Amino acid sequence: MLFLDAIHCQNHSRPPVWIMRQAGRYMPEYRQIRSQYNFQEMIHKPELAAEVTLLPIHAFDMDAAIIFSDILTIPESLGRPFQFKEGIGPVLENPLTSPQDLDSLTPTTSLDFVAEAIKLVKPQISVPLIGFCGAPFTVASYLIEGGSSRDLKKTKQWLLRDPASFHQLLDILTQATIKHLQLQISAGADVVQIFESWANHLGYSQLQEFCFPYINRIISQVDAPVIFFGRGTVGVLEDLIQLKPHAIGLDWACDITQIRKNVPTNIALQGNLDPQVLYAPHDTIRRECQRILSGMEGDPGFIFNLGHGILPDISPDAVKVLVETVKEFQCAHESSPF
Ligand code: CP3
Repeated sequence: MLFLDAIHCQNHSRPPVWIMRQAGRYMPEYRQIRSQYNFQEMIHKPELAAEVTLLPIHAFDMDAAIIFSDILTIPESLGRPFQFKEGIGPVLENPLTSPQDLDSLTPTTSLDFVAEAIKLVKPQISVPLIGFCGAPFTVASYLIEGGSSRDLKKTKQWLLRDPASFHQLLDILTQATIKHLQLQISAGADVVQIFESWANHLGYSQLQEFCFPYINRIISQVDAPVIFFGRGTVGVLEDLIQLKPHAIGLDWACDITQIRKNVPTNIALQGNLDPQVLYAPHDTIRRECQRILSGMEGDPGFIFNLGHGILPDISPDAVKVLVETVKEFQCAHESSPF
């Protein structure tokens, strides 16, 4: 299978392709289901989560599926549920406001519904299934901010003023995360991806203190290949390599071909088309995909993806063009006599 071969840096045909947030609002089929159920119902009902996971596989023939769920299931399982508010995003009912709140942050509800959804999806697909989680720092920031925030001001003030209790929080989240990834893997996830979506808010010494040690713990305790995606972390490539993930996900603000030269050949690279390129005319989409594909041609450890999640107002036709461009690259590549 292309995707697993590439994760193991042993892919000798065209690169596999999937898209972060591939099952989402840009798909009319998703919006149709969403008009009948709220987001919480969709992730909690295994039959619905499974159905939504399959949508982009059927519509675009992606080379990997990612289970339909959310990184905020971890706060929920620790007694801090969230609602998804239209036009605002996720809103936590009960954010953390002081270190005393950590005492109440204990495993409260099960995440078995994610395992159930995975078990329903597995027999229906012939491509690998990706499980996932948010990295502890990113999830901590949602718990403290109470939802999406532009500057993570409360989170940063907490970690700067009271690093000890921030570490306590990260430790609680790390334990829950390892359990959750193991649950997903036992249920059938072939690979897991860790999203450190807010890593770009941390300075270097903060990454070293509040991000890497916890990612390291997760990677070393999980029995499946791990993709680490840390937004804005390409400048600390050496530290990422030290974490020994199977693959590093790159955002779009870097030249993946250049990066390849500095990453050991046993670590795969995933990325990194600017998600907004999908707003462009189809020829531009093809050209920008081909630029990345040519730069990575023949690389046995390359997975084509966007540099971050797909935006909700992208046209499905643009996604078709992206996937076709990657898949046709195979033909050009394999029919070459040399
Ligand atoms: O990739 C996939 O298709 C799998 C499903 C998936 C979702 N969220 C579904 C979702 C994954 C991998 C995530 C991860 C996630 N969730 C992250 C990390 C990835 C990243 O983008 O950095 C974060 C930060 C979250 C938290 C979260 N959940 C946010 C910020 C939002 C609102 C985003 C928006 O598009 O406005 C959600 C809701 C959410 N999670 C939706 C989906 C499909 C949209 C819900 C809807 O309107 O129906």
